[in-house]
Formats: sequence, structure tokens, C-alpha cells
Amino acid sequence: MRVLGILCWLSISAMAQDGVDPEYVIPKKNPHSTPADVQAGARLFMAQCAGCHGPKGEGGKGAVLAQPRLRRAPDDESLFRVIRDGIKGTEMPAGYAVDTKETWQLAAYVRSLGRAPAEVVPGDPKRGEEIYRGKGNCAQCHTVRGEGGVLGPELTDIGARRSAAHLRAAVLDPERTLPEGFLLVRIRTKDGRAITGVRLNEDIFTIQIRDLNGGLHSFIKADLAELEKETGKTPMPSFRAVLSAAETDDLVAYLASLRGAQ
Ligand code: HEC
Ligand code: HEC
Repeated sequence: MRVLGILCWLSISAMAQDGVDPEYVIPKKNPHSTPADVQAGARLFMAQCAGCHGPKGEGGKGAVLAQPRLRRAPDDESLFRVIRDGIKGTEMPAGYAVDTKETWQLAAYVRSLGRAPAEVVPGDPKRGEEIYRGKGNCAQCHTVRGEGGVLGPELTDIGARRSAAHLRAAVLDPERTLPEGFLLVRIRTKDGRAITGVRLNEDIFTIQIRDLNGGLHSFIKADLAELEKETGKTPMPSFRAVLSAAETDDLVAYLASLRGAQ
């Protein structure tokens, strides 16, 4: 029993060096938030987070952190949790390469970003919404608050998850901004049917796709004559030639205003 206890203690203290002690009781207030902590946090952030969130938290592939209130991290305790555990079902990973103190220093830096002035998005969201529904016909493939198609990702809270710069790039150069795990596939069955769609799931023997009209299909791979994966391709068209510069600004302003169901 004693030996087991010591082993346990050893493995927990070993973990604490490259992770957070699982027994750690998270205090309500950040205990490491001096200017020196913020600076240390900034260095860690550059190395581990800036690739997705932008060096100033301006967002990108990751959420905009330079805003006064974070949806998933309204207080210090929840911010600590998000950085330690990541957010399941999203691209936000667990911060397993940092210890408890470093997690707090990251949290202190993230909070300091929230005090910077918010990103200014030119354009009129009201006109942008008209373009979204009309000329852009975006609802054909995207859902906002329960309305629209399902081929593309849901956009109900896209403004909280992506920077305006990313949204602009997604509309103008969709192939440059593909979300992680997104894959377009082209299938030909042995009985001659051809289907193009977005991969939903795949294992060694089967693949499930959503076709461009929204229909679901499941195939046994052995029944296929051809299975082609089009990495870096998307059915989303570029709107560069369709929208004027002012219309693009309006559309981006509308997308940036989408911050959840409310
Ligand atoms: C691989 C990309 C990626 C990396 C690396 C990453 N994040 Fe994230 N992060 C995301 C995404 C995507 C979200 C939005 C998840 C969602 O809500 O859909 C997010 C969300 C967050 C949130 C919640 C934002 C909110 O509005 O509530 C915080 C805080 C955060 N990240 C901090 C960090 C920190 C600190 C690091 C570095 C230790 C980090 N992230 C590393 C992609 C990333
Ligand atoms: C033919 C279907 C289709 C149409 C029409 C379409 N999209 Fe998309 N869209 C997609 C698909 C599929 C993706 C995911 C792959 C990608 O990023 O290209 C996507 C991705 C996006 C993203 C990036 C989402 C993210 O998480 O980064 C945004 C933003 C977006 N679309 C906005 C729009 C807007 C605005 C319009 C109308 C002007 C539009 N889309 C029209 C299919 C479509």
C-alpha cells in the first residue's frame, strides 16, 4: 500500500512538470497576474497560441481573444479551465505543455489582450445581411440560427470564433482558409454512380459523405471503383468576382456580428 502511495505521488509530481496537477483546486482569482507574469505569458502565447489566435489575440483560425468578454471564459476560473483542458469538439487544444503557473501566466496575458481596443470592422452589417440572403445566396450552404443549408459549417457564432480578416479571406479565397479536418471527396461506385461531397466520417472499411445537395451517403470502400480525396479544395465558390469592395466589407461586417444564438 505504502509503495503504491509513493508511486502515485511520484507520478503526480512528474506530471506537474509538463502538465497541471489533476488534483489542483482552481482559485477564483488569478494568483499570477503581475506585469512580469503577463510578460512571461506573452512569450508562452507567441510559442503556443499565436499561430491560431494571432500574436495580439486578433483571431485567425482561433477565436478573437482581444475582446472584453470571452464567451467560454467569462471569469478567471473558466479561463484557466479552457487553457488547461481545451474545448472538446473544437480546434482548441489542451495546453498540456505548460504547468499550473504558466497556465495562469497565459491567462493573465489573454486578459491583458481583452483590455485593448476592439477590432474595427468597416461596412454595414444590415446591408451585409441582405447580401448574405440575396446576391451571395450563402444560406444555400450555411445555417444561421437554425435557418439554411448544411453543406458548409454553421455560421451562427462565426463572428466570435474567427477574426474579420479570416472571414474576409474565407469569402474571397475559400481554399486558403479550410477548417481542420475538412475534406472534399469524389466517389465513383462500381455500378457507375458519381458523387462529390464533404467527408463526414471515415474508417478503414467505410466512408460517409454529404453530397453537394445535402444528401447523406455511406459507402463500403470495397464497393467503390474510385475514391479521390481533393485536399485543399472546397465546394465554396470565391466571391471575389461577384462582390464589390464595399459589398465585401458589408458582408464581413455582418459575419463578424454573428456571435451566437442570443
Ligand atoms: C489549433 C488552433 C488553436 C491553438 C493552438 C490554440 N487555440 Fe484557443 N481556440 C481555438 C479555437 C478554434 C477556439 C474557438 C473554439 C470555439 O468556441 O468554437 C479557441 C478558443 C479559445 C478560448 C475561448 C475564447 C472565447 O471566446 O471564449 C481561449 C481563452 C483560448 N482559445 C486560449 C488559447 C490559448 C491561451 C492558447 C495557447 C496555450 C490557445 N488558445 C491555443 C484554436 C486554438
Ligand atoms: C456551395 C456551397 C457554399 C456556398 C454557396 C457558400 N459557402 Fe461558405 N463554405 C462552404 C463550405 C463547404 C465551407 C467549408 C470549407 C471552406 O472553408 O471552404 C465554407 C466555409 C465558409 C466560411 C469559413 C468558416 C470557418 O469556420 O472558417 C465562411 C465564413 C463562409 N463559408 C461564408 C460564406 C458566405 C458569407 C457565403 C455567401 C457569400 C458562402 N459562404 C457561400 C460552402 C458554401
